[in-house]
Amino acid sequence: MTTVGLIGGTGDLGTALAVHLSKKHRVMLGSRTLEKVKSVVNEIVIEKNRDYIRQNLEAAENHTVVKESDFLILTVPHENARGTISSLANDFRGKQILVSAVAAVAKIEDEFVVDLASSREISFAETIKQLVPESVKIAAAFQTIPANVLYKEKEISADVPIAGESREVYDSVASIVSEIQGLRPLYLGSLRQAGEVERLTALLLNIGRKNGLKSPTIKFTSF
Ligand SMILES: NC(=O)c1ccc[n+]([C@@H]2O[C@H](COP(=O)([O-])OP(=O)(O)OC[C@H]3O[C@@H](n4cnc5c(N)ncnc54)[C@H](OP(=O)(O)O)[C@@H]3O)[C@@H](O)[C@H]2O)c1
Repeated sequence: MTTVGLIGGTGDLGTALAVHLSKKHRVMLGSRTLEKVKSVVNEIVIEKNRDYIRQNLEAAENHTVVKESDFLILTVPHENARGTISSLANDFRGKQILVSAVAAVAKIEDEFVVDLASSREISFAETIKQLVPESVKIAAAFQTIPANVLYKEKEISADVPIAGESREVYDSVASIVSEIQGLRPLYLGSLRQAGEVERLTALLLNIGRKNGLKSPTIKFTSF
């Protein structure tokens, strides 16, 4: 059983991933505030009413989550990604995988736009790579998955493009992604590709909003 940690896990994406990943793993839901995350875990336990969630889902401060997890997922807003990882940099113990789910999306008037400004114009995943010990391996994934659909456990069929430091890192992330029914991991390439997937969210949200498509995601076809 892997310990999966969700940094900033109290939001939409963190709670959605926690519901699915606690089927097979110990899941530590992280927050800056212990009281807040305890209350969020309590709400999930009551709402979902499943034994595995009661047994496997724990509340913790982000610092504890980073110290204790083998596999971490960063689920904070993009404006806070750099600051959050900087403040946790001393808590990493190495030989961990850190997946950034951070999407480079901001809103201007009624449109979504790509916003890489706070990552200094390289991808958030590459920025984060520079902040953690070398032994922590980085990937980017989940940017195109609508959290509300996952949380409600609606039927989903979606692809999850994954950029990772190496094929081995991709394989580890792909194995976690495949545990969520309906998600298909796809190898996008090295961390240099992370920006491509981080930018897709603005496209999806605009297509959804302007064409009346609820919770759009991506699914590749080939002929
Ligand atoms: N929502 C989606 O459907 C979706 C899908 C794919 C990717 N994403 C990406 O995943 C990330 C999380 O999305 P979300 O919708 O779950 O976000 P969210 O609900 O807005 O925020 C997630 C958590 O981030 C923490 N946070 C907020 N402000 C912070 C700050 N100033 N410093 C540190 N932590 C802060 C909060 O946790 P605490 O207050 O408990 O610390 C909050 O519960 C984003 O980067 C988003 O682009 C989202």
